[in-house]
Amino acid sequence: MTGDTARMSRLPDGRDPSVQPAVRLRPATRTASVPSSAIRDLLRVAQRPGLILMSGGLPAPSSFPVDALRDAFAAVLDADGPAALQYSMTEGEPGLRSWVAAHEAARGTPTSADEVLITASSQQALDLVGKAFVEPGEPLLVESPTYLGAIQAFSVYGPEFRAIPTDPDGLDPEALTASTAQNARLMYLMPNFQNPTGRTLSAPRREALSRVLRRLDLWAVEDDPYGDLWYDEPPPPSLRTLAAERTIRICSFSKVLAPGLRLGYVVGPRPAIDLLARLKQATDLHTSTLAQRAVLHLLESGFLDQHLPRVRDIYARQCAAILGALEASMPSTVRWSRPAGGMFVWVELPERMDAGRLLVRALERNVAFVPGNAFYASSPRSNTLRLAFATVPPDKLRVGVATLADLVRSGPQD
Ligand SMILES: Cc1ncc(COP(=O)(O)O)c(C=O)c1O
Repeated sequence: MTGDTARMSRLPDGRDPSVQPAVRLRPATRTASVPSSAIRDLLRVAQRPGLILMSGGLPAPSSFPVDALRDAFAAVLDADGPAALQYSMTEGEPGLRSWVAAHEAARGTPTSADEVLITASSQQALDLVGKAFVEPGEPLLVESPTYLGAIQAFSVYGPEFRAIPTDPDGLDPEALTASTAQNARLMYLMPNFQNPTGRTLSAPRREALSRVLRRLDLWAVEDDPYGDLWYDEPPPPSLRTLAAERTIRICSFSKVLAPGLRLGYVVGPRPAIDLLARLKQATDLHTSTLAQRAVLHLLESGFLDQHLPRVRDIYARQCAAILGALEASMPSTVRWSRPAGGMFVWVELPERMDAGRLLVRALERNVAFVPGNAFYASSPRSNTLRLAFATVPPDKLRVGVATLADLVRSGPQD
């Protein structure tokens, strides 16, 4: 290094940039209870080439409508010019709110545009719901297991998570008793193709749940990013069609169009939407004007009618590939869910087997998945794991599943 470059590599105040100053972070107490995402941590270490990644819940990139979005963004910029790049209303672009309202109405619940809030996708909606309705120390009812990102989002607000058991038909409404629900005001659930289990709440259970919600004076947070990704037939009508006066329904364009758009919405009773909008204003003022207008342009052209069948076909094929692989190679001591839509399969290993230890051995053989523990708000079951199948080619899914089957057969190696 010459004297000049040495001098140039100094900061203007003469400090050496390679010497990091000691940092004394003093975060707010509420951040201490927020778990790090096991998935993100795992993806960070699992970047080596050749790894069969059945871990991250990424949607299939082949389903992203790149050309249609390019045209839609261009059309909006051509037609609207700077207005497409201007600040916009917190509640969302009026046209998109109206489209969502009409879409919800067509699915069985009369809805007006002012019962819709456009968000930076469903993850932001979860955070806003936490801000609005979660009191520190108060019980918050969740499925067992549940979506890791929801545990993270709600944890900031300090609830006492209370887990309600699920089975292959989804959440068990009978387990939602007055004593379990005591002092709770919210139940968070994913009725369709749940993350992480892939299970769907049956129609009779939706009916039963709506009655229990009324009896116990609970509100439901119905998180539904996967409802459109059905394979053979649509799931039963949403919980909102049965209990609109106490349901906050959260939907997303992440899986039907693309997650990078960061676009989703909340539908619910007007007072709830008004409160969430007030909190959203403090968070980010509004969701991207350009993204909202471009997506509205696509939606109004009827694009989803041709696009969704293609997307469903991709997911159905991927799911068939992983279920076939599990059938072909897993020993009879292993059980798994058989999703009717979405992008996850939930696997139960023999009782004494620990999925965390299995992961260590699987990574040595270039296979990754997420151990089930991460998805339990309380009382984790260590013999469970989630397989995400959307982004792995079928031949790799077969290799990945056969490797796991091999490791399961060779038993726990402590
Ligand atoms: C159940 C559930 N809710 C919400 C999200 C957040 O997705 P997004 O913010 O992209 O809509 C995900 C992401 O995978 C999810 O699985």
